[in-house]
Amino acid sequence: MPTKISWTGLSHQDRIQILKEMRIDQIIALYEMPDVTPEDFQDRLVKQLTLWAPKNLGDFDTKGGPPTKDVVLGAWRDLDRSEALLELIDNSIDAWNLRRETYLAMTAKTLIVHIRIDPQMQQLVYEDNAGGVPKDKLTHLVVPGYSDTTDLSLTIGSYKTGGKKAIFRLATAASITTRYQNPAQTSDEAWSIQLDEAWLRDPYKYEFPYAPLKDKSVIEQGQTRYTFQLREEPIGGTPWYLESDDIKKVSESIQRTYTLLLIRNPNIQIFFHDLKNPIEPLEKLYDFSGTNKNGTDLRPQQIQFKFDLLHDGVPYSVIAEIVLGCRRTSGAGGTISGPGIDLYGNNRLFVLHDHETFAHLLPTGSARNLVRGFVNIHGPNFFIPWDTHKRHLNPDREIMRALTKNKLITDFFGHWNQAYQGVGRGDVTDLINEPLPKAVDKVKKDLFLPTRVTVEVDLRRKRGVNLPPSYVPPKVKRSKLRNHILTVKFTLDVEEAMYLFGKYGIEGSPREVSKAMVQNLSEAIRDDVLDRAKKKRRK
Ligand SMILES: Nc1ncnc2c1ncn2[C@@H]1O[C@H](COP(=O)(O)OP(=O)(O)OP(=O)(O)O)[C@@H](O)[C@H]1O
Ligand SMILES: [Mg+2]
Repeated sequence: MPTKISWTGLSHQDRIQILKEMRIDQIIALYEMPDVTPEDFQDRLVKQLTLWAPKNLGDFDTKGGPPTKDVVLGAWRDLDRSEALLELIDNSIDAWNLRRETYLAMTAKTLIVHIRIDPQMQQLVYEDNAGGVPKDKLTHLVVPGYSDTTDLSLTIGSYKTGGKKAIFRLATAASITTRYQNPAQTSDEAWSIQLDEAWLRDPYKYEFPYAPLKDKSVIEQGQTRYTFQLREEPIGGTPWYLESDDIKKVSESIQRTYTLLLIRNPNIQIFFHDLKNPIEPLEKLYDFSGTNKNGTDLRPQQIQFKFDLLHDGVPYSVIAEIVLGCRRTSGAGGTISGPGIDLYGNNRLFVLHDHETFAHLLPTGSARNLVRGFVNIHGPNFFIPWDTHKRHLNPDREIMRALTKNKLITDFFGHWNQAYQGVGRGDVTDLINEPLPKAVDKVKKDLFLPTRVTVEVDLRRKRGVNLPPSYVPPKVKRSKLRNHILTVKFTLDVEEAMYLFGKYGIEGSPREVSKAMVQNLSEAIRDDVLDRAKKKRRK
């Protein structure tokens, strides 16, 4: 039997010509798609006929060219200056980690990132010792789309534009000096990339000038140094780097973004502005209740859910590390330690205090203030549901279905939901305000988490699966005796209820009330009235 011609091997124009001239059965007789049955091939041809409408087309011409720099130029505008620096730090961490995997002995033991500002020169110098960049990879530092990372690398870097956006965001002109530490020690090269104002502004120019350093000793082996001529910000006013508030904002943003990473990898040191003291992990980010007495155990728990996700049809292993615990206060406040679930990708924070994604698994009403924890996705960067700036969640990504619907994961949230509800009212403070013996376990190089469980998850199994017996859920035993509790009852008509729903922000309609809505309303009224009564008494 003569072999058929590969349909996918043809150019688009050739396929359109064939679709114009031949019937589908004739095409199937002559052509094939590799690994596709004739029925599926027919199906695809039918779709192509509606998609391209070939019979109505005249002759083809072509247009188009490479994208302009506006793609990056445009994107820098919605980065704040901390986020630009985070992009550079992300890259230093990735480069250092990737290098360590292959050339541990030839990688700096401690990654040191130095960020300093020279107000006289109006320059910012960003420097790391992640290994440097060889000549054939200098383009990675400048041109969008060029990078060492692939979809499958276990990196923070995912979109191949971060470092470039940072340059445009911060600088009107930039020089990048890098001295590659060749693991084979067969060469010692140091380069200077120079991006002047005209280059940064020209939307079409991607070629950039670079030159070797004559005196390499100005930079150590393995170092990369960005020197930015800073944009004038604000125009005409005191520059941001002379305002302590602005400096504080940047250093706090770096601190919370990398707290978990710094705890888990004490060999990373980031210096910003203060060049003597590296940024310390922010322990109050996870100020969990450590209560474990009289039948109540609210100490934080970690479950690592291991499952496979597909990329181009091939399964890859991902771990969703979920840590849940109880706050030490039931108040809503606390900008850092406030309630909510934080989201991480490969230990890098990208959303602080999410209140929506897991809301269907957690309490409403005032018990919501007790919720604290995080979800950290470890695996190929492709699966991490963050946006290009790594500051938002994309709830439509495949992994989110697993995280919000898989029975084992929702069971874990369910146990904590019960615990939060159980903490309930009255002597809440007594019940939850006990701190953990320590926030960080220095030996384990991790947060102090008394419960650690790993659970293999088959995402295809929806029923009949349970958390392992070794997992012990949190427990709450109220110390108050039943006869010390009063239940106050009253009734409302729909119109009155409507007012109160509005006042207390209860979601849903009072015409179709659920138990949870009544519970939320009752808690809200109780909190409000009690609060007023207590305040009055204090006055
Ligand atoms: N400090 C550095 N040291 C060594 N290599 C670096 C450094 N900064 C950037 N690079 C190189 O530049 C590449 C591109 O970085 P870039 O931030 O543009 O993209 P990315 O990190 O792959 O993705 P994302 O857009 O998500 O940040 C890195 O993969 C790395 O090869
Ligand atoms: Mg990057």
